[in-house]
Order: sequence, then C-alpha cells, then structure tokens
Amino acid sequence: MTQAPITSPCIPEIETAGQGGGHPETLIRLDGTNATLLLIRRRAGLPEIAYWGRRLPQEISEAEIFAVRAPDSPNNGPDQWRPLITLLDTIGCWNFDMPGLIAARPDGSGWTANFETEQVAQEGRRLVVRGKDTVSGLAIVLSLELGPDDVLTSQARLTNTGTQSLRVERLVSGTYLLPESVDTAHVLSGEWGNEFGIEPMNLTRGGIVVESRRNRAHDHFPGMLLSPASTSENEGEAWAAQLGWSGGHRLCVERMEDGRIRLSCGEYLYSGEGDLAPGAELVTPVAYATYSSAGFSGCARAFQAHARRHLLHWPGGKMKPRPVLLNSWEGSGFDLHEDQLMRQVDAAAALGIERFVLDDGWFGARRDCDAGLGDWFSAASVFPNGLRPLSDRIHGHGMEFGLWYEPEMVNPDSDLYRAHPDWVLQTRGYPLWTSRNQLVLDISRPEVSNYLFEVISEQVASVRIDYIKWDFNRDLVEASDAQGRAAYRRQVLALYALWERLHKAHPGLEIESCASGGGRADWGALAHTQRVWTSDDTDALERLAIQGAAWHFLPPEVTGCHISEVPNGITGRTTTLDFRACVAIFGHLGVELDPTHLSAEESTRLKAWIALHKRLRGLLHHGLAQFCTADPARVVRGVVSDDARSGVFLVAQRDWVSARRPSPIRLSGLDPAKTYRITLPEPQNLPGYRPSEAQKAVFSGKVPVSGATLMDVGVFPPFMPPLSALVVELQAV
Ligand code: DGJ
Repeated sequence: MTQAPITSPCIPEIETAGQGGGHPETLIRLDGTNATLLLIRRRAGLPEIAYWGRRLPQEISEAEIFAVRAPDSPNNGPDQWRPLITLLDTIGCWNFDMPGLIAARPDGSGWTANFETEQVAQEGRRLVVRGKDTVSGLAIVLSLELGPDDVLTSQARLTNTGTQSLRVERLVSGTYLLPESVDTAHVLSGEWGNEFGIEPMNLTRGGIVVESRRNRAHDHFPGMLLSPASTSENEGEAWAAQLGWSGGHRLCVERMEDGRIRLSCGEYLYSGEGDLAPGAELVTPVAYATYSSAGFSGCARAFQAHARRHLLHWPGGKMKPRPVLLNSWEGSGFDLHEDQLMRQVDAAAALGIERFVLDDGWFGARRDCDAGLGDWFSAASVFPNGLRPLSDRIHGHGMEFGLWYEPEMVNPDSDLYRAHPDWVLQTRGYPLWTSRNQLVLDISRPEVSNYLFEVISEQVASVRIDYIKWDFNRDLVEASDAQGRAAYRRQVLALYALWERLHKAHPGLEIESCASGGGRADWGALAHTQRVWTSDDTDALERLAIQGAAWHFLPPEVTGCHISEVPNGITGRTTTLDFRACVAIFGHLGVELDPTHLSAEESTRLKAWIALHKRLRGLLHHGLAQFCTADPARVVRGVVSDDARSGVFLVAQRDWVSARRPSPIRLSGLDPAKTYRITLPEPQNLPGYRPSEAQKAVFSGKVPVSGATLMDVGVFPPFMPPLSALVVELQAV
C-alpha cells in the first residue's frame, strides 16, 4: 500500500518549551453564595478548571491566580505544558487519563481531539464556552451556570463539522476539579428493593467508575458524594454531583498521575447511539454539582433548594401541599373488587387521605403479572361500568384519583402484543428476554408513543384522573429498534417527550416516576414528573437508610414514603404503626394498606398521624434539611425553617446501643441564640421505661432550651428500644 504524501499543513511548528499555548490570558469566575469556580482561559485549549470550592474574596486578582496555577513542567514529562483538567478533556493534549470525549470517524481517523477556545461569553452566573477543532472537524459548546444555591449546572453540545459521519462513544456533561484532600468517593449502590446504599470507596491512585446501563438505576443512582475522610454530615468540605438522566450513566472520579483529582459525569452511550451525520449534534443531559463547607448536609440543602427553585414543574406553577395518598398495591395487590375498593375509598376519606391511587391490576386480563399489560382499558370483570363510578366516589369525597400505568411495557399475552409484535425493542435473530413476563415497547416510534398518548389522554379526561403512577418494571436488554440499532438513549428522550405531551394536554395532571421504586428517581425524570417512588422496600427500618441517602440528592416532598402493611412484603419484619408513621411522615406521605382491615385503635392512630403530617408538611416540604448523627444505632434528622424559628426532627432507634445509657441527641441548623420549646406532638406519648421528671419537663415544652445547648450539649432522649422513634417538634419562644 502506498502512503499518502505528507503535506505541509500537517507538520506544525514545535511549541517552545514552557511557553506558548499554556500562557494564561483571562480569568473566568463564577460565584454562588458559598462557592467559587475559577477557570483560566489559556492561549491554547479549552479553559482550565483552576478552582472549585469555598467562595473566594472578591479581591483575588487574576495575576495571583495565574501565578499560583503555573506549576513547573514535570521531569520526563511534556515540554509543552498544558493543564490536564479543562472543561472537557479529550484524547490528546498530553492527557492520558480518562477522556470526556471519545469519538472517531468510520475509517478510524479523527480519534483524537484538540479544541481551541473560540469564544467565552459570560452573562451573570451563566457561562458559554465555544470551542472548535478544525483538524478533527468538531465544534463544542459548553454551558455552565453557578446559581445562588451553589449548584453548578453543566451541559455539552458537540457538532460534527466534518464531512464524514462521526461515532461518539462518550461525551461527558460535566468535568470537575477536586482538591487532593478528597480521598473518599461515596458511591450510591444497591439493587431492587435496596436502593440508595451509600458506600464509601477509598480514592487512591487510579479511578472509580460507576456505570449503570439498564435504563433503570437500582444498581447505581446517578449521583456521588466526595470528601476527605474526616468530613461528616455537618462538618468539613464536601462535593457532590448527579446526572439528570434516566438512561445509562457513567460517573468517574480519578486521582491522576500528577495527584490532581478529576470527576466527570455523563451518560452511557451504547454503540451507535452517539453517531452524528455531518452537521448533526449531540446534546448531553445536564449534570448538577455542588460544593459545601458544611459537610454532606450542606450539599443536600443545596440540591434540594435547586430542585425546588429550578427543576420541578408544578401544575399551576406552584407546589400545592402534597396530598396524602393511599396506594392499593400492598393492601390489595391484584385482588381487586369494585365494592371493596369503594369501601376502601370511604375508609381512606375518613382517615384524612386526599388522593386514592388504584395500582396494578385494573385493566385488561391483568389478574396477575402474566397477561394484559398494554391493554389499557378497564377490566369488565372488576369494573362492569368502567372506572368512572370509582372515580366519582373518590372525587365525591373531595379526593384526587390516581391510576397506575406501565405504558412502556407489554405482556406477550396481551391484545396489544398480538396486534403489534413488531413494536417491542428486540435484536432480531436473538431470543426475546422477558422479565416479570414483559417486553419493552419502542416508544421512540411515533406510532407507539401516539398510541400510548391517545389511550392515556382519553382516560385522563373521561375518567377524571388527577395523577398517574408511571411504572417501569424491567431492565432494557439487547434493546434494538426496528433497524437493529441500540435504542436506550432514544427511549429516554421519547419518554420525556411523552410526559411533556401529557402535561401539556392535561395541565393539572401530576405524574409519579415509579420504576419498581428507586429505578428512575433521577433529576432527568424529575424535570418532567412530580414525585418518585423511592423504593419498593417500605419496611420502616430499611427506609431510614434509603430515605436518608435519597434526601442528599432529592427534596423529601417528591419522595414517596408510605406507612405500609406488616409484616412487610419484602423483609417480613413487623414494626409498630407509630414507628412506620414517624419514618414516613417526613417525605410525601402515603398509606399502603387496606384501611378497611384496621382496628378502631389503629384507625384512630393512623388518622392522628396523617393529621400531624398535614400540620407539619409546610415545614417538612419547604425547610432546610438537617442530618444530625452518624451513630449507626440511631438516626437523628429533620427540617428547620429558613428563619430557624421552628424545626421538626426524627429520632429513630435502629438498634441496641453498646452503652447502658444512650448518648444525648445533638441537633443542627438551629439558631444558637434562640430558645426553643420542645414537644412530642400527638399522637405520641413519652415512651421509655423511666423518663426522669426533667426529661418530662423538657419534652413537654416546660423547660425551653437554647439552640446552642441543643446543638452542642445535646439532650438525653427517653430510653428507646430498637424499632422505636419519636417526632420532636421545636418552636422558638
Ligand atoms: C412496582 C411498583 O414499585 C409497585 O409499587 C407496584 O406498583 C407494582 N410495580 C405493581 O406491579
């Protein structure tokens, strides 16, 4: 084979060592309230990330930052110095660490990239960096914004400016520089029924890559916390990031050869999903990141504030008090009977429930998991006159009607599948995999999403549905479209489009993103829905951990937290109604049991707990989250109002303590100078074997205590056995 002659433009000048492209030109600065991001635009390359951390004084000068961010060239390293952490690191530019962009042309060329910054436009908190690589034929737009709540949003848009198609294998949404003191990555891991486990991993040399590739993230919620090992809930520096995307994701943190630490967040692309024809562009999901000098709690508060202000969209533009709901699943399962449901509706109304959600089993031949999925018409054997009578009964009590759907799925034994077997995602020639006896519809096909939109939309209007519980109970595997191409990414985009279409057609409609609990609880889904089902595991003991971790990334008011049947369907554990209620009332409260089976005493207590939640939900769903202890035997956490005048805390005993007398509880987020009256609201009594007279006085509000004492000295709670809990209310005097 003869080699093509090398033409002169391919032989550039060798840059003089230590000069040239590395020369700093402009300092770019974004400030939150407590955080600062500094970027240096150098003569060559994309802007370097120089700093992201505690807010810096305004007087910091460009010259000093240029001076301190100019290390000597390492021995045996490159002669032409370039920063290694830019806003988007590629293969090339002396970067040997995990690149944020991997792409190539079909003939293998164009596999390396070397962007030059064309334009940097800053408008207030928002920054747009445009770069191009004329050799590889790429253009990039990187958009960043650091809001007053200290959340940094990042998104990338890559355009193929070449004449051949481009295969993009990876394009990250956000790249972040972390200081060398960070040695622990707190990775979210789990599986179905056990989501949101936070696992600390030691970040030594090399990297930690967390990927989820199934379009349901039970295995890894797309978020991560990072910190020095000494950081706790309320002290020390912490960084956190999460990707707003319901498909595959890849979070990667790497301690590089020269000691620097880089974090990147991006979607996981299957082969071909990032293919770009000439002129086409790939827009990444948005990544969200935050820094706090007040420990992990600070990151949680920043994310919650950002979600409340910017992410969530509510019918009417404002969140109404979250309706307490009853969900039929754990109480009735598939055993649905109209007359019994009517009785449940009446009993629910008497308990103070505000939304009745009819779960799986109401449609087609769906009497179990084997058949009917996809046939979204009410089962005549259960509802001889359709759903309207039930809906009317619910609305007659002033309640809302919620209905369960799993629109992306189909049972092979269904009319829909018999009519359209070609609608499912499948790699032709390979066997079809089922899970829970179901297949996944290719909703990126317009005829499929149109069908779903029309069926659901018609029902929403004719049956008067106020709320949809949108389930999604299996992973995608070998999910090819009709042309045999991977369809994971398009499936997510089609889902978001379908949700938006439904919201537009029915402006009052709320949607819950369920996905077997915890499977689709990310900010991508939350930008289009109003609630996530946190986990199918409703055991209150397990929920202490699940909810605690979830609230580091999500506001509690969008996380479904239910008081459910005992023994628990997943763990078999029996806990008291009071324990279950204490744990559940801090989120979006639901009840998941048959209310007609409750004793009079249980009904009275449950009604009182619901009333308590309603009284407190203004604070619980708008206040500042507090996580107070790392004690494995006990959970103390709560919410404090913006003005620190009121607070409500959960004290939950998980296990026996090793000491004979448990240590005092120390709260957080209070005003040290204020004095608080502490009470245990109804229906609670002071538990414990022998509470002292002083304890009785403190917990009945007779002895007000200062915020300083409550936060630093602490207060002995009454003795609490495992699986017991208290809701503690504080009001400034
Ligand atoms: C999984 C969900 O998480 C449950 O709450 C319930 O809706 C079932 N699916 C119904 O099939």
